[in-house]
Amino acid sequence: MDEDAEQEGLSVLRGKPVGGWGLLQIAGGTGLAAYTVWALVLMPGFRRVPLKLQVPYMPASSKQVSNVMTLLKGRSGKMVDLGSGDGRIVLEAAKRGFHPALGYELNPWLVRLSYIYAWRAAYHSRVSYRREDLWKVKLNDCSNISIFLAPSVLSLLESKLLAELPDEARVVAGRFPLPTWTPSAVIGEGIDRAWAYDIQSVREAVGGTHRGSDV
Ligand SMILES: C[S@@+](CC[C@H](N)C(=O)[O-])C[C@H]1O[C@@H](n2cnc3c(N)ncnc32)[C@H](O)[C@@H]1O
Repeated sequence: MDEDAEQEGLSVLRGKPVGGWGLLQIAGGTGLAAYTVWALVLMPGFRRVPLKLQVPYMPASSKQVSNVMTLLKGRSGKMVDLGSGDGRIVLEAAKRGFHPALGYELNPWLVRLSYIYAWRAAYHSRVSYRREDLWKVKLNDCSNISIFLAPSVLSLLESKLLAELPDEARVVAGRFPLPTWTPSAVIGEGIDRAWAYDIQSVREAVGGTHRGSDV
């Protein structure tokens, strides 16, 4: 460490004013560290996704997971979590008998973590986590979908879901509702709230079958 840097460091420790250049260095260093964590840990695999469609990782609380399961109660078949994070919703769906239970997740660290959790729960053969862009997968055979994404992408997602899902599908959105659809059921309060949408009713409300407008 050279003398100037040593003095800067000492003045921080002693609580003395650091000065403009010192502040700039601290801000630059902090910014770089934050960006490195963002690029390497939180958002790897997102380089090809347009900025406006990038949604960061924020895991569902156990209350949110249980609200999703309540809104899917009595249903069966394929269950898909779009942007599956550490796989907690998919794992719970598999435990409740949904088969196949599948998560699409771009972050490779989270895909690995999902398999670790599934393996620890002895459910690794009953779940599947694919490192794929949710905007590029086809959803024509999915009857149960969950989404915990950001408001900025939800209106585009409405078009994709409406174009691809079968009539019998149910979509459960957590944290934020789909912007123009009317829910069939709502559960929970505040950030734990979840909304269920039945595709047939949504299609009827928007008039007609409304299929085919791919994203
Ligand atoms: C808010 S988190 C929700 C995670 C999980 N569904 C849960 O509720 O715990 C959103 C997740 O979507 C993933 N994601 C965002 N855009 C994606 C995309 N285009 N394709 C696949 N995964 C995506 C992020 O990496 C992040 O893990």
